[in-house]
Amino acid sequence: MNGDFNYRMPVQIICAAGVSKAISSHIKGKRVFILSDPFLFANGVAQTIGDNLEGRQVQYFSEIEPNPTCESVDLAAEQARRMGADCVIGLGGGSSLDVAKIVSCLTTNGGSIYDYYSGGTQTIENRQTQLVCIPTTAGTGSEVTNVGVFTNKKTKVKMPMVNQAFWPDLAVIDPELTYTVPPAVTASTGMDAFCHAIEAYWNRESNPISDALSLSAVKMILQNIKKAYDDPHDLGAREAMIISSLIAGISFSQTRTTGIHALSFPLTAEFGASHGTACSITLPAFIRISQEQAAEKMAAMAGYLGFGTVEELAQAVEDLMVSMNMPVRLNQLGIQEKDLQHITEVGLTPAIVHLTPAEMNTQTVYTLLKSIL
Ligand SMILES: [Fe+2]
Repeated sequence: MNGDFNYRMPVQIICAAGVSKAISSHIKGKRVFILSDPFLFANGVAQTIGDNLEGRQVQYFSEIEPNPTCESVDLAAEQARRMGADCVIGLGGGSSLDVAKIVSCLTTNGGSIYDYYSGGTQTIENRQTQLVCIPTTAGTGSEVTNVGVFTNKKTKVKMPMVNQAFWPDLAVIDPELTYTVPPAVTASTGMDAFCHAIEAYWNRESNPISDALSLSAVKMILQNIKKAYDDPHDLGAREAMIISSLIAGISFSQTRTTGIHALSFPLTAEFGASHGTACSITLPAFIRISQEQAAEKMAAMAGYLGFGTVEELAQAVEDLMVSMNMPVRLNQLGIQEKDLQHITEVGLTPAIVHLTPAEMNTQTVYTLLKSIL
């Protein structure tokens, strides 16, 4: 824990069942561009939100794909500019919310995402377009972070982009939107939130506020994720999951994530795992190695959660994942021993890997991956 810290959370948060249908009074713009994935467009959720915006011009972009590419970002930005959007709403999982962040900036900053992203020479100075994020899964936390993750289609490299202009103006937390999420997605997105909370907790940049948020989030997730998985209509569990995902998001927005997320990028970009699966598959192993430099703190978390040791916590998390039919071995994703060196090298590229409370180098990461092959 770092006793000297700077805490900033500029996002307004509104949370209530059904609130996504009643956000008109919060929208400052007159021309609203709503970004979602094809599913949320087909099932009418995007349209319902647009229909309740009272007299505003609304345009939809429904082509957000999982692991959004820079090309999709540019396509959406071009359409948003053409309509003169003064409000961008991201509706969906992390992909839609991340794309909304950069598109809301590109409406007035001009150019392509490639001008700003990894290797680009320009910087985004400010954002004049209102940015609203409405999560429909309980996991990403993207609605309260200033991070977007985008994939370069040509190189297949998936990298996070951080910008002060990416903080949403408004996060709309509506548990009703998660009621129809299927069990497999409930499991993977919920475990992503668990990773956010625990990575913020053991993070070298953690502070007393993020620690309190993380402990609260991990406890709520452990108490509710299996209930939401087993019974999608358990509204209490659904509400607890979207709120704990939000709390975990606020926590890691202050610290960033660590090795789990760094290693997840090649697992999604190159082996097709969903983000939550790619993160949680290394989670038990990372809990075990967190004792290398954060033994006392991790023992305190284990005790707070009712476990005798950190090893018991790691095993319980692994058992929980198995009980939700989640993969816990890399070979379940089709990964072979010959792939480990490459995953190690790509996983060590993001700077966040070094926020892990254990030595992260070619040898240690390879050993960790081999242990869960
Ligand atoms: Fe994540």
